[in-house]
Amino acid sequence: MTNAATPSPSAPSDEEVGQAILDAARYGDVEDLQELTNTYGKNQLGFRGGYGGNTALHFACANGHVDCVAWLIDQGVEGCAANESGNSPLHWAVQNQHEAVVRLLLEKVENVDVLARNAFGKSVLTEGFAGKSQGILKLLLEHPSADEDALMGGEGQGQCHEGSDGGEVLKAGLQSEKKANKASGGGGEATVIHRLVLDRENDPDRVLQIRELAIEHADDPFGKAAADDTTGLGVWPAALVLAQWLVQERKELLDASTIVELGCGCAVPALAAALHGRPRALHLTDLNSETLMNARANLAMNRENFLVPETAACVHVSAMDWGDEQSYPPSAVGAVDLVLGSDLVYQKSLAPLLAQVLCRLMKPGGRFLYVAPATGRDGLEDFLKGLLDRAGLFQVSEKEAGPELLGNPLEGGGGSKEARVPRRRKRRRTALIKCFFCTLMNWPRRRLCINSTNMSSNNLCEITEARRQVDLIRVLS
Ligand SMILES: C[S@@+](CC[C@H](N)C(=O)[O-])C[C@H]1O[C@@H](n2cnc3c(N)ncnc32)[C@H](O)[C@@H]1O
Repeated sequence: MTNAATPSPSAPSDEEVGQAILDAARYGDVEDLQELTNTYGKNQLGFRGGYGGNTALHFACANGHVDCVAWLIDQGVEGCAANESGNSPLHWAVQNQHEAVVRLLLEKVENVDVLARNAFGKSVLTEGFAGKSQGILKLLLEHPSADEDALMGGEGQGQCHEGSDGGEVLKAGLQSEKKANKASGGGGEATVIHRLVLDRENDPDRVLQIRELAIEHADDPFGKAAADDTTGLGVWPAALVLAQWLVQERKELLDASTIVELGCGCAVPALAAALHGRPRALHLTDLNSETLMNARANLAMNRENFLVPETAACVHVSAMDWGDEQSYPPSAVGAVDLVLGSDLVYQKSLAPLLAQVLCRLMKPGGRFLYVAPATGRDGLEDFLKGLLDRAGLFQVSEKEAGPELLGNPLEGGGGSKEARVPRRRKRRRTALIKCFFCTLMNWPRRRLCINSTNMSSNNLCEITEARRQVDLIRVLS
């Protein structure tokens, strides 16, 4: 950068010029910036002022001034310069969710690195996962610096990379993401991050972030083998009902207990347990490898917000095949206080497998909370009957989900009122819920669509390992 003009003897100091440049960038005033550089030259365009060592580019990015960012880059300012907290201008653009600025930086700045971490260990990509913007996340994931090799910890172009702590999770996320985008033709609709408020009345600020991906091989999502079943890449309505049931009505089951979620998919109920309770041990289990990667990514997105920080150390994501006892988490065998499950039985062959899992995992007095659609699930009746047949081992109670559990949990959905189902006007409201959820949850876009599934037709099933007479209750409205 060169001086365009020689300042007069009464010219302001470099610091004063630099400060004026920072102010102009903060307010996005390109004309002011041009005038300042025409008069005093470009030397102070990289000025770092005030607290924190921020540059003009930081301020323009943080405030979403696209024209100003473009102008600064054209003048040759350093695009990756980090401030004293290690945040680059890209960090700030992502943290403040300015998609157009993020796009510009990724296109124009040389050597930009979405895996560069700030002093708090957070990469730009991590910030992208934490934010609400799908567009920003997609831009970051598609950038060459998010290449899988780079995520493995190879040499990079920017500052530092995700190491062994976050790298695996992000790599998992990336692989899932890329496959999902491929599955959807790269249209960007394959990934959704939901922000869910599960107990609006008592804990309205507690938000669970859940990423769901396009269900792969949509023509045959169940696959040939159990491990090929990709239905867990999506969030099923039963999972939302179970999560709300758990935190609104069964919170006491969460504390100091060993919990296993079976076929966890996106892990909404299990992570809800960690967000609202104090489990002693929490196992997120599934079989499909893509689903497990996504569950890990969802764990990573929420672990900083668990009710108690100690929970983060006792959550395990593991591959578990109901048909293979060797795969059951050893520490969970015969030790589980609470088993969670939603929409797990949809083929007759699954019924005996699940019953076997419950027998092996639950300890005497343990409990299995299960939510399933009221109709359209092959094998569900066999499953319940199978439990009843087990020599009085299980006590089963079944009821229809009440309106209190059918609230729309999406943050900002205002769900409690519109989406609940007051008994008097049930029919009309039920129809409303279907539309509401379909729109907000992107369900119509998902390739797999089981029409009989919706929030309002999920039954709750409570199964206690009682070692006494079976008690089956059907509460029909
Ligand atoms: C319809 S999805 C439900 C996912 C999640 N519970 C929900 O409600 O969103 C069924 C889940 O069961 C898992 N699953 C199916 N067969 C399994 C098996 N043999 N062992 C372990 N998990 C299995 C699938 O991988 C899938 O995640």
